[in-house]
Amino acid sequence: MKKGFLKIVAGLMAGMLLLGGCDALPKGSDGPREVPTTITADFTKGENKGGNWVTYGDCKVTLKDGKAVVTERSASNTGVAVPCPDYRGNTVVTSAQATTENGSLTLSMRYEIFGNVTYVNIAAGIPNESGVVDITGKIEIPANAENALIYLEANDVRDYTVSSFEVSIDGEFNDLTNVPVESLEDPTKTASLSAAYADYFKFGVASPATVMTNTNDGFKKLILTQFNSVTPENELKPENVLDAKTTLADPAKYNECPAVHFDAAKPILDFCKENGISMRGHTLVWHSQTPSWFFYENYDVNGQLASRDLMLTRMENYIDTVINWCETNYPGVIYAWDVCNECIDDGGGIRQSYWTQTIGEDFVEKAFEFARKHAPANVELFYNDYNEYQTSKQDDIINLLKPIAAAGNIDGMGMQSHINSGLNVDNYVAAAKRYADELGVVIHITELDVQAPKSVNPMYDQGVYMKKLFSAIIEADKAGVPIECVTVWGLTDDMSWKSATKPLLFYGNLSPKPAYEGVMCAVNGGDVQKPADYVEPVSDTTPFVEDYEDQKFTGGPRYSSVQKIVEGGYESDYCLQNSEGYAEYDGYSIDVSQYAGHVIHVSFAIKSKADVCKCTADIDGTWPNIAEVQTGTDEWVLGEGDFEVEEGATLTIYFESSDMSPFFLDNVEIKAMN
Ligand code: XIL
Repeated sequence: MKKGFLKIVAGLMAGMLLLGGCDALPKGSDGPREVPTTITADFTKGENKGGNWVTYGDCKVTLKDGKAVVTERSASNTGVAVPCPDYRGNTVVTSAQATTENGSLTLSMRYEIFGNVTYVNIAAGIPNESGVVDITGKIEIPANAENALIYLEANDVRDYTVSSFEVSIDGEFNDLTNVPVESLEDPTKTASLSAAYADYFKFGVASPATVMTNTNDGFKKLILTQFNSVTPENELKPENVLDAKTTLADPAKYNECPAVHFDAAKPILDFCKENGISMRGHTLVWHSQTPSWFFYENYDVNGQLASRDLMLTRMENYIDTVINWCETNYPGVIYAWDVCNECIDDGGGIRQSYWTQTIGEDFVEKAFEFARKHAPANVELFYNDYNEYQTSKQDDIINLLKPIAAAGNIDGMGMQSHINSGLNVDNYVAAAKRYADELGVVIHITELDVQAPKSVNPMYDQGVYMKKLFSAIIEADKAGVPIECVTVWGLTDDMSWKSATKPLLFYGNLSPKPAYEGVMCAVNGGDVQKPADYVEPVSDTTPFVEDYEDQKFTGGPRYSSVQKIVEGGYESDYCLQNSEGYAEYDGYSIDVSQYAGHVIHVSFAIKSKADVCKCTADIDGTWPNIAEVQTGTDEWVLGEGDFEVEEGATLTIYFESSDMSPFFLDNVEIKAMN
């Protein structure tokens, strides 16, 4: 999740060049070479010595008893990585086991795409009572991705010890080792979104700084042709702005005012200044991508957390310094700042974090107070959050922001909008209207990406949805909802933090997708063209059956849970175990969109120490219950229920336990009733 060490990455790449890409893979000079379909880290062998692992970022890796002990981690994204450059164009399964005192570990992927760098989170896990974390996840690596590697990061900078780490091909190996990457299309030929939407709102994009430093200038041209607002994807986040080296070298000197630097953000700031593009500053106060040392007395993570007073002082100084450095050096470039990001917990109420632990729950109010005090009058101050269209989250956000709005310290609500095409567009714009009406603020859609549906025509269907979505946004804007900017979270699908879901407007080669066409049709009229290879959808009512006897499952984690096939099924050998989520609803999720237009009957066997287990549908921010069973005895219990899947719906259902205890699932059957 965390990044921002280009120098380290350069070092890593040099290391990989020495390795010749990946030392697991023998390079023959002639003939096809054998590419193993599994890469297993061997921690008895040193780095670059055939062990299939590398050090990722600024940290120390020591090998002991066949394990990798990772210490001196300068940032939460540092650790051990397994390079898998030959796996591009494949879906891989990756798993790791580690022990740690960090709150959670995450498997993430890094790859280069036409000279840009993309980071994708794959799966996360939290340690059990003995500190052991098991994480397994699946991810698609784009065909044009070069130097892909999978690394283990944490939510904090504490040590971890990896006992196993593996990456393997899922299914048939698609061998692209001798296939060159595609060439880029000329982006200047595509009509401009920002020009088409000039009467309504700014059309923005999130970009990494690699776009500006890239020798491949197609990406810059795409921005210049299409967009008139830019958000740095990571470069203005605290982990990239806080100057760890300087601050930690003299903690006493910097105790109240940490040193900052803008090395990561400068190329984007320069680009915006030179080209007259406005920038959204993202983000000042956040629980994530903020180093934990920032919250400790003397910046020492092994000591005590800083007092409320000290943290208030640090927060005020940080906000003041960052806003004013940007204003002084790039006057007028940043027109809006996300002052606070993601402060509402997934389960409701204020999210607990280092901010609440040090300052308390009024840290949001304080952050806005400081931002108002120090920001130039024409810079708009925003709160930004995800799932912001869900009714319960709207309530929480409005409660949080009401007093801040009453004090005159906030100007805008940032609706992140990481959505899928199952979201009802009327409910979505109703949320925008509600924020504007109840808080008296303007609206920015700040991080739009729309997961492509799992249909037979995913790109076309996504395009049709984009037309619906943007038509609703335009209508709302015309009706007076003050939507001032819509930003998409990335330039191309392959550059997206969720690349596997193909959520953006341009393909990896810079050509426009049907999603782009849909956005254009919303403003210009017309319909998204059916592609030449359009497939007439037939409703597929084949029953879904999983009994795990083949030791396979087709569903996946909902948020951060982990699934594993284990022994001891319901009257059989195997079942599926779900564990290690962050919240009760981090369960096992199954896509049932193919049953759209039918009533489904779901039956299953489940076992858990939790009192209750449920099967629930996930639709538009509501979670209707399909079946609920009393568990708790750790005996198998049978459950069943019916649910109507609406025509055209994109729907997943999921299994969950009431208190995050692991649950075991077997004999899942879903069939259409009509
Ligand atoms: C994401 C970036 O896109 C990734 O590169 C990074 O690894 C993690 O953060 N909400 C936010 C954004 O406010 O800052 C996040 O961006 C996506 C979720």
